[in-house]
Amino acid sequence: MTFADAWASEMLVLGLESSCDETAAAIVEDGVRVLADIVASQNEVHARYGGVVPELASRAHLVNVVPVVRAALETSGLSLHQLDGVAVTNAPGLVGALLVGLQTAKAMAWVTGKPLVGVHHLEGHLSAIYLEPDPPPFPHLALIVSGGHTSLVRVDGHGEVTELGRTRDDAAGEAFDKGAKLLGLGYPGGAVLDQVAAGGDVRAVALPRAMTAPETGLDFSFSGLKTALLHHVRDRGQPDGAALSDLCASYQHAIVEVLVRKTRRAVAQEEVAHVQICGGVAANSALRRAMQAAGAEDGFHVYIPPPRRCTDNAAMIAVAGTHRLRRGQRDGLELPAIATSPLPRRPGATPVRSPARGQVP
Ligand code: KG4
Ligand code: ZN
Repeated sequence: MTFADAWASEMLVLGLESSCDETAAAIVEDGVRVLADIVASQNEVHARYGGVVPELASRAHLVNVVPVVRAALETSGLSLHQLDGVAVTNAPGLVGALLVGLQTAKAMAWVTGKPLVGVHHLEGHLSAIYLEPDPPPFPHLALIVSGGHTSLVRVDGHGEVTELGRTRDDAAGEAFDKGAKLLGLGYPGGAVLDQVAAGGDVRAVALPRAMTAPETGLDFSFSGLKTALLHHVRDRGQPDGAALSDLCASYQHAIVEVLVRKTRRAVAQEEVAHVQICGGVAANSALRRAMQAAGAEDGFHVYIPPPRRCTDNAAMIAVAGTHRLRRGQRDGLELPAIATSPLPRRPGATPVRSPARGQVP
């Protein structure tokens, strides 16, 4: 088979994701058609602790992984032997959690003789958008906002990612979850806070926006905002009803405003007019609206996956894996699980050029 034939023929890839608290398996054809997309959430396991308990996550992955893979195969009507490859998240994440998906993927690759390929979780998030009918061209910028990461990156091709800025402390999703926990909204609280904020007044409570000065470039900081909320609740007491809704709206607005402001700054700096948002916080309704509005105002195109493909899933891992396999990448059975794996950062500072049309401070 020639390279052209290989490219033209269909490629069926099974993706596996177990880096945090979702056990997921999906089958994607040619990196664009989802034949199965199964996600087993562990929210109930961790809710009573107000956060992910790593050992419990590993154990729940062990219980869920085979049923999830079986469900993906049954939904697609395929057998393991009809697959062309197995893609699995191997970094970054909770090592015990990653290992469950990784060992399962290795076993499937070994018994079928099919290629195995490891996928960086954030490369997975960046790939969810290629399942949409009108994905962004290269180069584009991406705001990756999840429970563990907040980064602005430049994407020059599949797997060609350069980090331009990142959070210096909490991730945006962490800020949502910690804020929600403080306000008694349960765990994980981002989506609930989003709902409670609906109809609230974003100007009701003054909260800080950290690291917005030009010299802070494209980096973020959210830990001060969480502390400000803590002080507000300590001084004024736990709100309910309309006051709770106003506080949620103000808190959410403080996060969203900084994310959008830095994205606009990145657009001006890189002179790239296509921006995608991905990761769990990209499901946030206020962020989606604000980014679309900023794009319309500044003249850049905004691409956002549907909410269920923003949060952790395995279809995005299968897509990233498909592109890796097409580039000829293969991993051996020694592929390790890696807890921390920063994206390659652009060397030197992140200089800010003149703001676009006066929109970027
Ligand atoms: O990408 P993801 O599923 O897992 C990680 O890779 O971390 O992101 C999970 C994060 C959690 O912090 C969750 O609260 C947040 O995404 N999230 C939201 C919303 N839906 C999920 N945050 C704000 N608004 C939402 N609608
Ligand atoms: Zn994620």
